[in-house]
Amino acid sequence: MEMQHQSNQPGVQQPPLLEVRGITKRFDGVVALHQVNMHVNPGERVSLIGPNGSGKTTMFNCITGFYRPEEGQVLYKGKEITYKRPDKIVLQGITRTFQNVKIFPTLTVLDNLAVSIQQHQEENLLKRVFYTGGIKKFERKAVEISESLLELVGLVQMRNERAASLVYGQRKLLEFACALAPDPDLIMLDEPAAGVNTAMVDQMKRLILDVNKQGKTFLIVEHNMGVVMDISQRIIVLDYGEKIAEGKPAEIKQDPRVQEAYFGK
Ligand SMILES: Nc1ncnc2c1ncn2[C@@H]1O[C@H](COP(=O)(O)OP(=O)(O)OP(=O)(O)O)[C@@H](O)[C@H]1O
Ligand SMILES: [Mg+2]
Repeated sequence: MEMQHQSNQPGVQQPPLLEVRGITKRFDGVVALHQVNMHVNPGERVSLIGPNGSGKTTMFNCITGFYRPEEGQVLYKGKEITYKRPDKIVLQGITRTFQNVKIFPTLTVLDNLAVSIQQHQEENLLKRVFYTGGIKKFERKAVEISESLLELVGLVQMRNERAASLVYGQRKLLEFACALAPDPDLIMLDEPAAGVNTAMVDQMKRLILDVNKQGKTFLIVEHNMGVVMDISQRIIVLDYGEKIAEGKPAEIKQDPRVQEAYFGK
């Protein structure tokens, strides 16, 4: 079912934070996404699920500027961002993690975060240097923010270790912290729980809920149905590049189209 844009206050229609209109993405003969509409409201936790190859990561790549869709539009805060470069989209306030974790293995944990902050503030950096006390002040601020994020994800003890020395779950936590570093409004996580042990899955779930409480909006791709059911307010289901269902976790669990997509007839 198509859900109406929701608002926290009854009777007040808030525009969605993210809106995807009729996105189609093809690779040679493969239609990875076919005219998909979806939206994420401010402050929401939405999951995008579907079997392997159903188009979830392709959707992330279309939203964040890594792929150019053949048809459709992506709007953020009501403004079109289709075809913008990935770094420009980060500056607008959308960050993401990757299915194959992307961090700098030879840099320390702290420096990974500092780079994340710096990269995304490039445009303001020069102004800052000239008008507000210079690079030193900026660096101090970057270290301050980095340390508080490491505190949040429980990696403070590892701050001076090379990122390569982290176990897989810790790398995912570091990548999550890096996604928070530019202070985005929308955070998109591609399989945050995959390949992570149970204790860290719980930690990741808590983190998502805590950060969401602080006002950040989440769009999450995840195969672990326990995690999806626990953290999502709304779930969107893709199958062969088409949206086949959308609704609250309890509705999605019962949906025969979803069961068929996952388990066959
Ligand atoms: N760069 C690419 N070049 C060619 N085909 C691609 C490319 N990226 C994705 N595809 C194809 O598009 C379809 C959707 O892939 P996508 O990675 O979006 O699926 P997914 O839902 O993220 O799957 P998974 O759960 O396995 O991560 C698949 O058929 C895939 O092979
Ligand atoms: Mg994927």
